[in-house]
Amino acid sequence: MQSRKGFLKESMLAEAGCLAETETVAKKASAEKSAAVDNPLVYTMRPMKAELSRELTVAIVGAGGRGNAYQHYGRKYRGTMKVVAVVDTNQYRLDKMANAWKIPAERRFHDYRELLAASANGKLADILVVTLPDHLHCDATIKGMELGYDVLVEKPMAQSAKECLAMLAKQKETGRIVGVCHVLRYAAYFEAIKSAVDRGLIGEIMSIQHSELVEKIHTSNSYVRGNWRNSKIATPMVISKCCHDLDLINWFIGTRCTHASAEGELRYFCAKNRPNGAPARCTDGCPFEKDCIYSALKIYVKRRSWTDPLDLPPKATDEQVTKILAASPYSRCVFACDNDQPEQYAAALRFENGVSVAFSYEGLSPVGQRRTRIIGTKGMIEGDGIGFRLTELATGKSRDWSMKIQDVPGYEQQGHGGGDLRLMRDFLMAVDKRDPSLLTSSLEASVESHLIGFACEESRLTGKKVKIHG
Ligand SMILES: NC(=O)c1ccc[n+]([C@@H]2O[C@H](COP(=O)([O-])OP(=O)(O)OC[C@H]3O[C@@H](n4cnc5c(N)ncnc54)[C@H](O)[C@@H]3O)[C@@H](O)[C@H]2O)c1
Repeated sequence: MQSRKGFLKESMLAEAGCLAETETVAKKASAEKSAAVDNPLVYTMRPMKAELSRELTVAIVGAGGRGNAYQHYGRKYRGTMKVVAVVDTNQYRLDKMANAWKIPAERRFHDYRELLAASANGKLADILVVTLPDHLHCDATIKGMELGYDVLVEKPMAQSAKECLAMLAKQKETGRIVGVCHVLRYAAYFEAIKSAVDRGLIGEIMSIQHSELVEKIHTSNSYVRGNWRNSKIATPMVISKCCHDLDLINWFIGTRCTHASAEGELRYFCAKNRPNGAPARCTDGCPFEKDCIYSALKIYVKRRSWTDPLDLPPKATDEQVTKILAASPYSRCVFACDNDQPEQYAAALRFENGVSVAFSYEGLSPVGQRRTRIIGTKGMIEGDGIGFRLTELATGKSRDWSMKIQDVPGYEQQGHGGGDLRLMRDFLMAVDKRDPSLLTSSLEASVESHLIGFACEESRLTGKKVKIHG
């Protein structure tokens, strides 16, 4: 596919009438309605603010990157949710979030088990937002449900198929509202594709080709040096990174996956590529540092990118950053880490309704992007993660969809195309109305996409095609 600029020119978009429409923006409604007459891809986005019968209380369990993304909803939409307890083993992060929400000392915890123990005589909040490292999701969620909490848990929901199924069983037993953070389902772009598919605009789906391209520095930060570098500590790549993609594929198709087979290996970020004489850390005077695109000094000190895990003090000097970096895992040579995640992955999936899927993941990409092609009996959708084109088979006529997220109230400049906050909004609505169907993604659906990921990984490791259902 060409770049977005290549086929989604402003003039074409205007001509096609691809305008954003929200229920709250009455002013634009008439112009958009006339555009919708010609363009079936125009669709209505839900407003970002939750309409609730009362303010809901939330405990943030893991005050890192994701915990912060979700607490932001309560800051932006006052009166919808209030953070009343925070947990983190990291004192800096705990204090930062707890101070911002003026949380008293007795509701600040250093381990999620402390919060659970303190809940034995009654819940501390309506909702647990579980944004812990992958290996703690299952335990915290199951125990939270047992204590009567509704739980929003980050993906991956758990580290094995057995754990996922145990979480589902516990949800059925307790009747709690449980959501998994498949935030891309709540992003306008993917919603619009799903809407076009569900309205039959491409007929019956025959096949899908979907690739996730992960930008190379993102790969080095998260999957070589960082928290998700090792499948045994975190979760295999196809689940930790790609469970979003598997979930989207599953969502578009709407039936269960029967078989999976996969290939992929770690070939680049490994010891054989470490230059002779390169020290263990970029901060140890590496002679190759100047010419290395993965130089930690360039990434974290010079460019100040990907610095969140370093917990830098405000206005840190280069010397301060270098010192913090040197003591962290992020200064390690990318060819001398304890990583085992493959940089490339190719999977073939087959679904109950006969749809076949080719899914790939690439970790050495110059850009971060998701590319999707869905072929149906009446047409084809091709998208690049920002816009998509629908081409009818009968006429060859194409229409483009795009939405300027920065122009849509509530969605502008928000993580995952507004998906982070929309998920939070829908979760609050589901809890308030005691109606899990208000969430786009059911727990059953999340379990299904995780089962596909675990089957892919089994296939990659054994070289065999793995049966999931059927
Ligand atoms: N939905 C998405 O798109 C998305 C994106 C990134 C990460 N994630 C997932 O979200 C989860 C959190 O990721 P993150 O980027 O916020 O990581 P993070 O490291 O920034 O945050 C996790 C926090 O948990 C804390 N912690 C660790 N052990 C703890 C314990 N026993 N008790 C209490 N706190 C503890 C850590 O100190 C850390 O601050 C991960 O499972 C990750 O895979 C999801």
